[in-house]
Amino acid sequence: MGRSANDLPPDPLREVRRGLLLTGLGTWLALTVHSLLAVPSREGRAPAEEGLWLAVMAAFAFTLFVAVKFVERRSTRLWLAALQLVLALVGNALLDGNSVLAGLTLLVAAQVGLCLPVGLSVLWVLAQTAGLLSVFLPYWSVTDAWAYASGYLCFQLFAVTTTRVALREAEARGRLSVLLEELRITRALLSEASRQAERLDIARDLHDVAGHHLSALSMNLQVALHLTPDGPARAPVERADHVARCLLADVRQTVQGLRGAPDVEFTRDLKVLIGAVPVPVRLNLPPDVRITCGVRAQVLLRTAQEALTNVARHARASQVWLTVGQADGLLSMDIRDDGRGAAELRFGCGLSGMQERLESLGGTLHVHTERGAGLTLQARLPLRGPA
Ligand SMILES: Nc1ncnc2c1ncn2[C@@H]1O[C@H](COP(=O)(O)OP(=O)(O)OP(=O)(O)O)[C@@H](O)[C@H]1O
Ligand SMILES: [Mg+2]
Repeated sequence: MGRSANDLPPDPLREVRRGLLLTGLGTWLALTVHSLLAVPSREGRAPAEEGLWLAVMAAFAFTLFVAVKFVERRSTRLWLAALQLVLALVGNALLDGNSVLAGLTLLVAAQVGLCLPVGLSVLWVLAQTAGLLSVFLPYWSVTDAWAYASGYLCFQLFAVTTTRVALREAEARGRLSVLLEELRITRALLSEASRQAERLDIARDLHDVAGHHLSALSMNLQVALHLTPDGPARAPVERADHVARCLLADVRQTVQGLRGAPDVEFTRDLKVLIGAVPVPVRLNLPPDVRITCGVRAQVLLRTAQEALTNVARHARASQVWLTVGQADGLLSMDIRDDGRGAAELRFGCGLSGMQERLESLGGTLHVHTERGAGLTLQARLPLRGPA
């Protein structure tokens, strides 16, 4: 079984948006409370005006919450940012160009920094600042209005830069954790391969050295038996011949065990692969499935390896199902995940290599996926044929 799904590399955008939501709502609360407590800006205000201002502030918070927490589509988030900008400017105008409440524009700038490239974000911020200036001008001297607006321009640019840097940093961390997972899988496979190679070496040595000498000993004892007439010497020669044959059989059995039957190796290696991926994998490998061909076992193992690596890299899945079966002269391996899938699938080196390997043995590869509905890989290999 793999480790918990919590070990998955986090979605960088989601991570930054979570931080933005908390700081955004905190900033909104601080600015609103400050505006409520700042008596001079509220003196002589009619209750209806107060109510309208509160409604505008509540609408700003609600839009911020929805845009940052729930909306995935970039264009919708931009529309909601524009709505927040209008609400921030209206709220500000209702408080006679309150210089502190203008801080709400920073929250809009931070959201825009996550949706648009730098150049467009700066243009947006400039337009936002022009809007702010037009709200300040009726209530402040030109010098003061310009001073506040230019100050907020710098803060907004800072907000855009900060969110972009946070996004890049989270993306870099995500890439690093994927690389670490790949490294972990490769290390597990390498150590398994080197263990296997060592055992193969020992098996070869045993077969070539001990096996050879024991065969020679057994043949010589056979000759000795023929040459030994019935008498007291014959019984020990017969026992020696029997012991030599037993030893030879034992060595052959040990060599066979060290080389390992392909299906035993396949099951063990598949479990090693599964243990190295960061997503829980439910393995269904019925005991009657017997992969007696080492080449087919290797192709299926490489298929599983690439599929599981892809799950770790692309899927953001919380569960994988891996089923190996055997029916109608075909070996089958289905690997399904419940991750984000893909709207359009373009084969890279991984999937192409997998397909080429399977087809070289007369097999096939089918991939089914839809955005949000995970991905299923179906590999089929004929039990007989080229190998
Ligand atoms: N389990 C999956 N979930 C979602 N998308 C996937 C999954 N597996 C593959 N993909 C998509 O299919 C594409 C092709 O995968 P493929 O393995 O061929 O290339 P790759 O993983 O991008 O790079 P590499 O050549 O290093 O394997 C991926 O880039 C990814 O978009
Ligand atoms: Mg791949």
